[in-house]
Amino acid sequence: MSGKRVAVVTGGTRGMGADISLAFAGSNTSVVAVYRSNKKCAEDFRATIRELSPESIVLQADVSTREGVNKTVEAAISSFGRIDILVNNAGIFDFVFIEEMDEKFLDNILNVNFKSMVFMIQACTKHMKKNSFGRIINASSISSDLADVGLLGYGASKAAVNMLTKIAAAELAPYSITVNAYAPGIIKTDLTAPMIKERGHLQVKQIPLNRFGSGGEVAALVKFLASDEAGYITGEIIGIDGGMLKVQNPYRAHEYVQQKP
Ligand SMILES: NC(=O)c1ccc[n+]([C@@H]2O[C@H](COP(=O)([O-])OP(=O)(O)OC[C@H]3O[C@@H](n4cnc5c(N)ncnc54)[C@H](OP(=O)(O)O)[C@@H]3O)[C@@H](O)[C@H]2O)c1
Repeated sequence: MSGKRVAVVTGGTRGMGADISLAFAGSNTSVVAVYRSNKKCAEDFRATIRELSPESIVLQADVSTREGVNKTVEAAISSFGRIDILVNNAGIFDFVFIEEMDEKFLDNILNVNFKSMVFMIQACTKHMKKNSFGRIINASSISSDLADVGLLGYGASKAAVNMLTKIAAAELAPYSITVNAYAPGIIKTDLTAPMIKERGHLQVKQIPLNRFGSGGEVAALVKFLASDEAGYITGEIIGIDGGMLKVQNPYRAHEYVQQKP
């Protein structure tokens, strides 16, 4: 395609979403970066992204509502006339044990982490179909697979994202729209900062690569999945977790490596 592609990145002004937005802005792509409430951070980010891509937009919208989704898609179409890439990155993280979970908690986490992605896909695909091209990339998590106490809401929302990814990939394949997900382990962002502070020294032992990931590493994966070169990949949930889900006892593996002469 000649000219710039257009990417919508939800939760695109902070955390790994900011790295994803900047990766696109630096590679011939106009970006609509969506945030929900952190205005100060969004305004600072607007200045940063416009250095790379002056036409890119920073937009306030709550993508867990139909109104927020419509506002986002209308802004993208009125500014750029097309949507090529959708990164459903916005998400929230919270713990509560099942016995203490109220309905409001469960509804909120499912709405933000899962239903928002369904709404965004519904609103964006008609624009992608017009061009017979689309890349949809969803934020999953190792928690979609790895059961942990207190994470029923979060884990179930991300397991639902995995199934959404696979079913959307099947339904949209005839239109040359690919749908994939990235499943991060522990990436250093605001979302994980309290957890890393509290028990990071224990958690790092569960990671074969012995460190937390960076937003830039996630952005590199997302940028690849959005590229022409990734056109034959669809329906995949791709782990980016330092090997956390692949190695049975990473702590022992570390000790072994450290003891080697
Ligand atoms: N960090 C990790 O280790 C990790 C691991 C696995 C999966 N993930 C997933 O990766 C994604 C990004 O995580 P992160 O760590 O970068 O998060 P983060 O630093 O907490 O940033 C979240 C972003 O999402 C936006 N957002 C939240 N709810 C929204 C809504 N209803 N509408 C629009 N925007 C909304 C926030 O907007 P405001 O700035 O206005 O608050 C913010 O820009 C999430 O889906 C998360 O579940 C993260």
